[in-house]
Amino acid sequence: MTNVTPNFGDFQLDVYMRGLSGVRDNLPFTYAELEARAHAALPPDVMSYVAGGAGNEYTQNANVTAFDRWGLIPRMLVGAAQRDLSIDLFGMTLPTPLLLAPVGVIGLCAQDGHGDLATARAAAKSGVPMVASTLTVDPLETVAEELGDTPGFFQLYPPKDRELAGSLVSRAEAAGFKGVVVTLDTWQLGWRPRDLGLGNFPQLQGHCLANYFSDPVFRAKLAKPLEEDVRAAALVWASEFADPTLSWDDLAWLRSLTDLPLLLKGICHPDDALRAIDGGVDGIYCSNHGGRQANGGIPAIELLPAVAEAAGSTPVIFDSGVRSGEHIVKALALGATAVAIGRPYAYGLALGGDDGIVHVLKSLLAEADLLMAIDGYRSLADLGPDALLRRA
Ligand code: FNR
Repeated sequence: MTNVTPNFGDFQLDVYMRGLSGVRDNLPFTYAELEARAHAALPPDVMSYVAGGAGNEYTQNANVTAFDRWGLIPRMLVGAAQRDLSIDLFGMTLPTPLLLAPVGVIGLCAQDGHGDLATARAAAKSGVPMVASTLTVDPLETVAEELGDTPGFFQLYPPKDRELAGSLVSRAEAAGFKGVVVTLDTWQLGWRPRDLGLGNFPQLQGHCLANYFSDPVFRAKLAKPLEEDVRAAALVWASEFADPTLSWDDLAWLRSLTDLPLLLKGICHPDDALRAIDGGVDGIYCSNHGGRQANGGIPAIELLPAVAEAAGSTPVIFDSGVRSGEHIVKALALGATAVAIGRPYAYGLALGGDDGIVHVLKSLLAEADLLMAIDGYRSLADLGPDALLRRA
């Protein structure tokens, strides 16, 4: 008897089998419905913050529609009954090519206000690593405790104070995170009309600052004890959040912060990828922040192939605009080692807590796996740029 390993696509059969017993999943299977229902579930200011992007949101929308420029070429009779979507990343074998992108305010997307913990629990249940943002409701140590056996990554917004940066990274190491993702595209906040219209920026109200408020280096900067004046502490945070002078000359310092795998997030140009790799980083994270920062016009997926080519054997994480299994397969074919998801899991969380996130991940993986099955791609190794046809 042959040993049959489950495929992610089997989730589809589970859904239909439950349907036979009259049980229907009450969570959506399309992004459009996920977003619409999250709209009803989340407070308006949180929804605006999550759903909104920079400027007229052209880039944010183009991030999604640009995937339509490619089509996967079907191949027949290749024996794709079993698919392998596992990847090797920094010496770890991961069951899926997915990551949960860092989402500051994910904490606020959960009904109980502890969405970072729910995301970590979803990572533990699904084996999909969480990249925990610097901006969390619960401190990184508490988030790490919920990750189970699934590796986690810590995302750092490099602050002005280098001692504070060092403290955050040391805490992430001590908590057991397996890599550090430094986000480079947010040293200045992008122009976000939806949030401007509501006059809403959650961190200025003191939300999602647990990593700072629990940090001895940060607390030493406060004139009054934190508990006496959270507003004042949030203003200190705003003045310390980012160093606008950070340049390539500082890469050696960033590298010196940790022996863990170091990734730079926001890399969209092949020369920047080369420079990062020259500076000793272990991974490139190609992203335009989901179109939330610069409304620059070029969808991130269009920039991925050149970045991946420049990166060569260095792993490339991709995010921005991934809404379906089809998008995941296309990003992998265009050179991503792993693909990260942003807004879709925030909405899954809003609707169903950690199980809502798991539902979103299972749906994305099932769709990706079934696409690979039907189009005859057995493993990610079979899936290169020649699997895609670029349409006019
Ligand atoms: C983000 N993103 C982000 N990135 C980061 O490095 N640190 C962070 O704290 C945040 N915070 C954040 C909040 C919200 C509400 C969103 C939607 C996004 C960007 C995120 O990691 C990722 O790049 C995008 O979400 C990917 O685009 P999609 O999948 O949302 O289109």
